[in-house]
Amino acid sequence: MSQDNGFVSRVTRSKAEAKASYDKLSRWYDLLPDHSERKHREAGLEKLGVRPGENVLEIGFGTGHALLALTRAVGESGRVYGIDISEGMRDRAKSRLEEAGLSQRVDLTCGDANELPYDADFFDAVFISFTLELFDTPEIPVVLGECRRVLRNGGRLGVVAMTKGEPPGVMERLYEWAHRRWPKYADCRPIYASRSVEEAGFQLREVARLSMWCMPLEIVLGEKV
Ligand SMILES: C[S@@+](CC[C@H](N)C(=O)[O-])C[C@H]1O[C@@H](n2cnc3c(N)ncnc32)[C@H](O)[C@@H]1O
Repeated sequence: MSQDNGFVSRVTRSKAEAKASYDKLSRWYDLLPDHSERKHREAGLEKLGVRPGENVLEIGFGTGHALLALTRAVGESGRVYGIDISEGMRDRAKSRLEEAGLSQRVDLTCGDANELPYDADFFDAVFISFTLELFDTPEIPVVLGECRRVLRNGGRLGVVAMTKGEPPGVMERLYEWAHRRWPKYADCRPIYASRSVEEAGFQLREVARLSMWCMPLEIVLGEKV
């Protein structure tokens, strides 16, 4: 447990504000330097190890980079589903999949992932990258509980998220400060990723602790047992 005794900052912006800000961001999201996040997102995908024929869900798919990789990995016999709160992001992701000729093999939904519109025990794997840390603190177990519900027994959950350092470093303090100062725009903040996954009832299979821009980051692989 870190020196701040497990405290995770609250996210105070509304869902309507989150949707509006990601709708705006979607227009230039791919112009942002993505190489650091991409590296970790790809490492998360590798740990999740999606195989041909699987049904896979991505939560908070953004402009669709991971959706593309997941669709190629499940092949023609599998199917990929995605949920994102932003219609702008949905449109960007859809164009990316259309350009690759893969849009027929993906189902995209716009909505809030704290209530997943999918049947229980349906998915083989769920992937969440740089998105779990956007949910308000009491929502994190709700979202992870939903992941557990929609996964079959033995199904895998892959999470890539900024996490709390022990003790918190300078960048982390700066991030927390920006999050408090501009809650509508700096909506993400470090969380306890692996601990939250474990507390949601998953068996931890692998946890990698890394760093991005001097911020601690975790890549977590959990299994529904
Ligand atoms: C920081 S982006 C990450 C995008 C992508 N996963 C990546 O790694 O590049 C977060 C994404 O989560 C989506 N999002 C935010 N709140 C959400 C919610 N409550 N339910 C579903 N998606 C949400 C945003 O619209 C955005 O596309």
